[in-house]
Amino acid sequence: MDSKLLSEIIKNRRATPPRFLGKKEIPKEIIQQLLENANWAPNHKNTEPWRFKVYTGESKQKLAEEVYSLLIEKIESGAKINPQKVDKLKNTLERVPVVIAIILERDAAQRIPEWEELAAVTIAVQNMWLTATAMELGAFWATPKFLPMLNDILELKPGQKSLGFFYVGEIALEYPSPGRGDVEAKVEWKE
Ligand SMILES: Cc1cc2nc3c(=O)[nH]c(=O)nc-3n(C[C@H](O)[C@H](O)[C@H](O)COP(=O)(O)O)c2cc1C
Repeated sequence: MDSKLLSEIIKNRRATPPRFLGKKEIPKEIIQQLLENANWAPNHKNTEPWRFKVYTGESKQKLAEEVYSLLIEKIESGAKINPQKVDKLKNTLERVPVVIAIILERDAAQRIPEWEELAAVTIAVQNMWLTATAMELGAFWATPKFLPMLNDILELKPGQKSLGFFYVGEIALEYPSPGRGDVEAKVEWKE
């Protein structure tokens, strides 16, 4: 095990905006590796609450069109949604090679609080994100405001919640890091 390599991957991980991702297809085996590592996230009571729907090719195009039509319908019936954002989302869904819908599936018996399952899913996403970084792929987690309106299109079952879209693609252009403030400012040492 190489902790220096791990630190390098963690610090190199970027939220690469979709417009900075290449259009080239990503092989299925690569996506499977991302998902495999996601599946090893820690989780309380072994509920494994992460679910993913992977859209590529035609299914991605269909998703883009369905999302667009639904949101335009909502705008026409008075919903306060910025049409430019709807256009942007459609373009993004069409452009990026891989769209992974991130879904939380609540433990049926609700044995643990929802926040713990949310935490587990977000760690699963980080596993995917770090794996993509190690493969020199770019990724981005998008959480559009109108996400809850897309539940039917994503075919969510009762007990499932959408947590956004994870985009993956080759890095066409490096996006600069916003950096981080000093960790010492966030830590109190109780010695
Ligand atoms: C739960 C979550 C949701 C996010 N949603 C968005 C989003 O909708 N739009 C966006 O521009 N960035 C989103 N981001 C990415 C952050 O903006 C990004 O991580 C931050 O700018 C730091 O950049 P870095 O990850 O490259 O260090 C999200 C990140 C997380 C963890």
